[in-house]
Amino acid sequence: MVTATNLLELEDVSKSFGEVSALEGINLMVGDNEIVGLLGDNGAGKSTLIKIVTGFHAPNSGTITWKGQRLTHLTVQHARDLGIETVYQERALADQQSLWRNIFMGRERKARLGLLDVSQMRNETEKLMLEFLRFTSKAVTPETEVGTMSGGERQGVAIARALHFEAELIILDEPTMGLSVTETRKTLDFVREIKAAGKSCIFIDHNIFNVHEVVDRIVLVDRGRIAGGFKTAEITLLDLIAQMQHVAETGEIDKSKAGVTT
Ligand SMILES: Nc1ncnc2c1ncn2[C@@H]1O[C@H](COP(=O)(O)OP(=O)(O)OP(=O)(O)O)[C@@H](O)[C@H]1O
Ligand SMILES: [Mg+2]
Repeated sequence: MVTATNLLELEDVSKSFGEVSALEGINLMVGDNEIVGLLGDNGAGKSTLIKIVTGFHAPNSGTITWKGQRLTHLTVQHARDLGIETVYQERALADQQSLWRNIFMGRERKARLGLLDVSQMRNETEKLMLEFLRFTSKAVTPETEVGTMSGGERQGVAIARALHFEAELIILDEPTMGLSVTETRKTLDFVREIKAAGKSCIFIDHNIFNVHEVVDRIVLVDRGRIAGGFKTAEITLLDLIAQMQHVAETGEIDKSKAGVTT
């Protein structure tokens, strides 16, 4: 459904790698301040889909629309300038650099004469730590080397950085992979913070409990196609599992069930 408030719309997007068709006829939209979860098996095309949105892959056909403007020849830099940020757990941060350097990497604050304004960046990092990250470990300061931090803490830093620079759409591709239960909970809290900050998010996770807990809408991706979607509030976890089984067997959701939105 196309409305004036849609942040992102993909229409009839297809992508193949040589002979392999990774995506076919994808229609997907993300609303203003909406958290959308993508669920699907390994190789379903989820990462390829988000790589198209971030300008990493060009689609073979179809259109991408951002705030009502059609985007052509999208590049990674252009996507970032528009406010589309991706957080990859492992690749997001520079391990040997301090926390504050990581927050401001590529977007350093400058003082007069073009010198780095280190104290300003430290102060902003400290504020982020207090107001957003709420790290319980006293060992973490703006000077802490990021490589010594836990996976969940690193995830938080990457999300905090995106929010600090006013990303409007934050894409998380399996952010909880390899995280402990406690760290996973923290990552889910960060997704709630994205919502509270008025921003939008695409959240990809193989754990349906995580997805069901934090997203507004769930989209099922199956073998390169969108099988269907549900408003989270309108589908129970058990019904979601049943629908996923139905998709695995037939490639489509069971439209006879309640709560189907697409
Ligand atoms: N750069 C590439 N070159 C060739 N084939 C690719 C490339 N990237 C993805 N594919 C293929 O496209 C299909 C979709 O892959 P994709 O990584 O998007 O799946 P996914 O849903 O993210 O899976 P997972 O849950 O395992 O991360 C797969 O068959 C994959 O092998
Ligand atoms: Mg993937």
